[in-house]
Amino acid sequence: MRSYAVKELLAEQPIGEHVEVNGWVKTFRSNRFVALNDGSTIHNLQCVVDFEQFDEALLKQITTGAALKVTGTLVESQGRGQSVEIQASDIFVHGSADPESYPIQPKKHSLEFLREKAHLRVRTNTFSAVMRVRSALAFAIHQYFQQNGFYYMHAPIITGSDAEGAGEMFRVSTFEPGKEPLNDQGEVDYTQDFFGKETNLTVSGQLEAETYAMGLGKVYTFGPTFRAENSNTSRHLAEFWMIEPEMAFYDLDANMDLAEDFIKSILKYVLEHCQDDLEFLEKRLLDEEKSKPQNERSEMALIEKLRFIVDNNFKRVTYTEAIDILRNSKPNKKKKFQFPIDDWGADLQSEHERYLVEKHFKCPVILFDYPANIKAFYMRLNDDEKTVRAMDVLFPGIGEIVGGSQREERLEVLQQKIKELNIDDKELWWYLDLRRFGTAVHSGFGLGFERMVQFATGMGNIRDVIPYPRFPQNAEF
Ligand code: 4AD
Ligand code: MG
Repeated sequence: MRSYAVKELLAEQPIGEHVEVNGWVKTFRSNRFVALNDGSTIHNLQCVVDFEQFDEALLKQITTGAALKVTGTLVESQGRGQSVEIQASDIFVHGSADPESYPIQPKKHSLEFLREKAHLRVRTNTFSAVMRVRSALAFAIHQYFQQNGFYYMHAPIITGSDAEGAGEMFRVSTFEPGKEPLNDQGEVDYTQDFFGKETNLTVSGQLEAETYAMGLGKVYTFGPTFRAENSNTSRHLAEFWMIEPEMAFYDLDANMDLAEDFIKSILKYVLEHCQDDLEFLEKRLLDEEKSKPQNERSEMALIEKLRFIVDNNFKRVTYTEAIDILRNSKPNKKKKFQFPIDDWGADLQSEHERYLVEKHFKCPVILFDYPANIKAFYMRLNDDEKTVRAMDVLFPGIGEIVGGSQREERLEVLQQKIKELNIDDKELWWYLDLRRFGTAVHSGFGLGFERMVQFATGMGNIRDVIPYPRFPQNAEF
């Protein structure tokens, strides 16, 4: 007898066949209808139980959350709501779930409640749908790069350098707290630590990816990155996954073209392969929006929003143009922005990014040529000596989803910059070597994976699109 996944049974519909299926009970109605789900699809399989045929003791164990093996004949469904169902002839209870204590009952649970039960929340429709879309997106990302001549490069997780220069790092050390050895100056003596130097969890694999791009041509990383920023927002995690392509001989224009094509391609993949989950998530969002005031509801439903991205060009705008638009915008004049825009040089906050995308252009925007002093040290200086070849891709509802740049390939200019910013160049000798030996124009960017999953699923909080979110004061599970 063949054991089927629910998804296979619903797709292949082998009517009349004696089949086996395993899964968890979603609901058990009228002591007769078990809705079984095994995670392979958002849809449940209906199992019809003739209660006269089974022990009362067994029936009692068929409660929400119990794991079952059901065997029986697949038949066309008598009832509405499903096309096929199993006429159960045998039921084996792998494990029961006490209804008094099993927290995931067949009713609406708040996302906050489910965050506390992160080990069980994947058994809900919402989280199983989100996690299947997440998995599909990861596959689409690898597929895109593999089909376009990129090599997958594994950047180290433990590093000695601070790629973004923001200093928001988690230290890696084997010193016993409070017993760190001191040197002659009374400072902690890291030469005695495990690596013989100060090390931390990486904030970005970019610098190492650059070294590989300057040998393999086109590479990408896809791994976890860590930031100890104390941002309790719906867009920040302390541990998140980043995709960082890096390409030799690409200038900023080529970099922007790639970012746009890449994003469209992975969203197209999800539209084509996750239809059922997207339909479910779209409906979920529409229900959620009913409780919001009219002006806070989004103008497009989820699937339409994804299609819109795939089918339309991103608007490319310089930072300087954006500042003009923002300075003259209604919310700025009416002092509605929390951070008012007065002068050129201001760092853009999420409220500004979202104004540009959602209110002004009404499409994804790529902002480029930012002021040098609000961006990282490695970005290529423009001839105006004020701006750098940076680009950020801004998305509706999200704000910044991609950050990237053309890299400074000129040794002297880079050295000068490192000096100005007081960066410890002892950690960057190998990075500078790239500019000594066969340097060339090159570019890359980083896509925040969870922000993309948020966009694709419509989930409002980044903590709900990663299995076990890490954020200030939380590392449970
Ligand atoms: O803009 P960021 O800081 O850029 C870099 O790290 C570059 N080294 C990338 C590169 O050029 N190779 O981060 C890139 C993206 C952001 O646009 C955002 O989507 C995401 O990473 N990101 C975060 N996502 C979740 N939580 C956080 N704390 C994030 N910080 C950045
Ligand atoms: Mg950024």
